[in-house]
Amino acid sequence: MTARTPIIAPSILASDFAKLGEECRAVAAAGADWLHIDVMDGHFVPNITLGPDIVKALKPHVSIPFDVHLMIAPVDNYLEAFADAGADIISVHPESGPHLNRTLKRIRELGCKAGVVFNPSTSPSVIEWMMDEIDLILVMSINPGFGGQKFMHSQLAKIARLREMIDATGRDIDLEVDGGVTVETAPLCMAAGATALVAGTAVFKGGPSAYAANIAALKGG
Ligand code: DX5
Ligand code: ZN
Repeated sequence: MTARTPIIAPSILASDFAKLGEECRAVAAAGADWLHIDVMDGHFVPNITLGPDIVKALKPHVSIPFDVHLMIAPVDNYLEAFADAGADIISVHPESGPHLNRTLKRIRELGCKAGVVFNPSTSPSVIEWMMDEIDLILVMSINPGFGGQKFMHSQLAKIARLREMIDATGRDIDLEVDGGVTVETAPLCMAAGATALVAGTAVFKGGPSAYAANIAALKGG
């Protein structure tokens, strides 16, 4: 079997916010498959980033899918705003609302793919009874809130467990990993069963002239 090539989703958290549109165009031109957008509220996680107006402003700049990672609570009241702003995938943490099943159904009703995000402490069992409602699973290999953290190897076994759960459905659910993804840790994630990798620091390091090489390296050279 040939090794699977990962979907690469650069996290714009590591980009130059003063020229965000330009940065998004640059990573898309450099081979990014999705654009990973980290939304933080200073409450669910200890950092504040951006809201739906910025997502909307970025949409015309690139045609690759917008992979929106919501780290806000309560999350339900903001789903529509992010869908309207151009999100293609909306991923939520189970801890960010009272009814995960209802939240995922709502995301699909809004025309987006529905994702569930696992904090390092969140158990795979959270989604055991609702695999049919899920289009993407995002495993955090750091505690959410900041880029540039060290990859937690403890999460590799969880990725493998979630891969088994996905395979048992026979459905094509993407398994994405977020946090501390580098050329060293990317192959470990892929070996555990991931299909998509978020990378902030590893894509944006070195500036625009390095983006294509950085993305190619994460894809395996
Ligand atoms: C953190 C975010 C990540 C972060 C990853 O809460 O969800 O997407 O930007 O950054 P790196 O790749 O630098 O660990
Ligand atoms: Zn993220």
